[in-house]
Amino acid sequence: MSQPKILVTGANGQIGRVLTEALRKIYGTESVLATDITKLPVTVEPFEFLDILNNQRLRELVEDHKITQIYHLAAILSANGEWNPIKTWNINLNGLLAILELAREKEMDKVFFPSTIAVFGNTTPRVNTPQDVPLLPTTVYGMSKSTGELWCNYYHQRYGVDVRSLRYPGIIGWQSLPAGGTTDYAVEIYHEALKNGQYECFLSENTRLPMMYMDDAIKATTDLMQAPKESISIRYGYNLAAMSFTPSEIAEEIKKHIPEFSITYKPDFRQQIAASWTESIDDSMARKDWNWKPDFNLSSMTLDMLHHLKNTL
Ligand code: SER
Repeated sequence: MSQPKILVTGANGQIGRVLTEALRKIYGTESVLATDITKLPVTVEPFEFLDILNNQRLRELVEDHKITQIYHLAAILSANGEWNPIKTWNINLNGLLAILELAREKEMDKVFFPSTIAVFGNTTPRVNTPQDVPLLPTTVYGMSKSTGELWCNYYHQRYGVDVRSLRYPGIIGWQSLPAGGTTDYAVEIYHEALKNGQYECFLSENTRLPMMYMDDAIKATTDLMQAPKESISIRYGYNLAAMSFTPSEIAEEIKKHIPEFSITYKPDFRQQIAASWTESIDDSMARKDWNWKPDFNLSSMTLDMLHHLKNTL
């Protein structure tokens, strides 16, 4: 197979920054074009500005750079999305539709679409949530991602587009900050523990959510995308799991390294969002189809997070 030419949307986002670097390690820097609506001081070339709602610009970039694969990460997350539902829907869904259409027309090799635990809702079984369950998401972010999953499935069935997708849990990494999600507390808590020795959590102490260390999220993404086509049986989002914990459990883990650390709780509107998601995920299909297995649990993640953040903060 010839060298892929990859375009990443949302390359300056929490996952985008780390995934772009990982893809460049695998395929070479020049083979991975980073795009985003803003440029950061840390942005590494090749980079092009892209507003995901600008279909013409997207088409030009795909044609000019002879793109063969797209990792479509640009999106507005669950909490931020609630401030402007219509804008969130447009960005999260119309961007995907433009990409799927281009992938069909240009006969691209592959497309990656990140889905999320936010597709689950109050009618979904909460513990060890199976792959195929009732989805009645409560946020516009969850609605856009669950509808996006259906479109991915449709483009695969109807046109044979090789689109692959994961339902990411909350992602925690030292390299970048999330922006406007409900699971953001689990990143902020490490920063605040090191900087101030205390953290005020916007979720209540016993809110259990599925989470994953960034290294595992990147491994899952690149493994899924490199797996042989025949082994991919799910074209909407694969359930994906690594660990589940509550704010009080992560605080206890941090205290093992920073004994003076303290946490207080002041739940806000994000509590209701978190309460509509599930606690733990059955990811046996990912394990069976492409040998998924996470490397990090709460204690190894905490050790690694604190080690890296101590050097960077
Ligand atoms: N981390 C995301 C959020 O909290 C879930 O996909 O919105």
